[in-house]
Amino acid sequence: MTGLEVWSNVEFDEHERVMFCSDPSVGLRAIIALHRLGPGPSLGGTRMWLYPSEGAALSDALRLSRAMTYKAAMAGLPYGGAKAVILGDARRDRTPSLLRAMGQAIEGLGGQFVTGEDVGIGIEEVALMRGATRFVVGCHGQDSSPVAARGVFRGIMASLEYRGLLSVQRPIRVAVQGLGQVGMPLCALLAKEGFELTVSDLDSARLNAAIRDFGARAVSPESIVEASVDVLAPCAMGDVITVDNVHGLKAQIIAGAANNQLASEGVGRLLREKGVLYAPDYIINAGGLINNAMQLKSYNYEEVIRQTEKIGETLLEVYHYADEREMSTSVAADHIAQDRIARASMKQFAAVNKAV
Ligand code: NAI
Repeated sequence: MTGLEVWSNVEFDEHERVMFCSDPSVGLRAIIALHRLGPGPSLGGTRMWLYPSEGAALSDALRLSRAMTYKAAMAGLPYGGAKAVILGDARRDRTPSLLRAMGQAIEGLGGQFVTGEDVGIGIEEVALMRGATRFVVGCHGQDSSPVAARGVFRGIMASLEYRGLLSVQRPIRVAVQGLGQVGMPLCALLAKEGFELTVSDLDSARLNAAIRDFGARAVSPESIVEASVDVLAPCAMGDVITVDNVHGLKAQIIAGAANNQLASEGVGRLLREKGVLYAPDYIINAGGLINNAMQLKSYNYEEVIRQTEKIGETLLEVYHYADEREMSTSVAADHIAQDRIARASMKQFAAVNKAV
């Protein structure tokens, strides 16, 4: 029998804690990965997904939590990264008792982990977890998804500006894959700007709403990656751009909300060779984290938006860095993030030494 590999998992990056949670009485099986613990809590959403295997769930938790550390660093937030994944079908298994049990597991970490929404977990579910733990953020009126959409919109605009596409004499064409909590409000912002929308979703009701409300053109989930558009905005799940489909891309820009959009690092290189500008996911989708981090202090919506708008400037910094060094934007983003994380750790180390 082969066991579940943790330390030898390719996504393991010296994570500080990985916790396996189980409560058979309510069907709970979850993994909480804390990538970096800072002076404050580690932040990251809780996802519920029907993974094909336990290994896939672990890899997802490890990879997503690492990205949260990078995301916080690039958004200028003094927090470590973390992520929780619940193994199960959100439509079938997401019962109030399971969510309360998940809340208890989070409470057991004593505040090292603060969580909120992600795929399969919305603010209703966050409210149920709140019944068992103090360490959740996200509620009606302070929902992170519309803020994430706003950040993605800002990132698309910055990317169009960088590529000189804002001055073309025709409507800008954007394909949005996934019309969920982020994809739908993103469509609203793009439609308001006069952009032409192509959309896909597995849910026909959401597709019909986008056709009705934004005059969008619907295409199949299989074909959207190769749609004839200026911008592809992946707003569903990860691993959207692969070595197999990268050659069929027609978009000049990839800029969307989904985490882990590139299936491998090699895809970033291929995108550069093909001349496609990729907005690194953990930078462009940081609006949700910025919103949630603000809830740990006193919430101020105007300040959340002010910080979220800076995503455009951060992307431009990454694009210039990548072009100057002829590297992919994904590697450029990692370089800048690693530098910021190292500096923050040195500062923290110096502060602790001063105190003792
Ligand atoms: P969601 O679950 O509300 O929406 C996802 C949508 O994608 C659903 O409508 C689903 O039917 C659709 N979908 C799934 N697979 C698809 C496929 N193969 N083709 C087309 N459509 C497909 O999720 P949400 O919250 O909108 O998040 C979307 C992405 O953005 C996720 O990757 C998430 O991690 C990321 N994200 C979300 C944030 C948030 O605040 N909600 C913040 C930052 C990132």
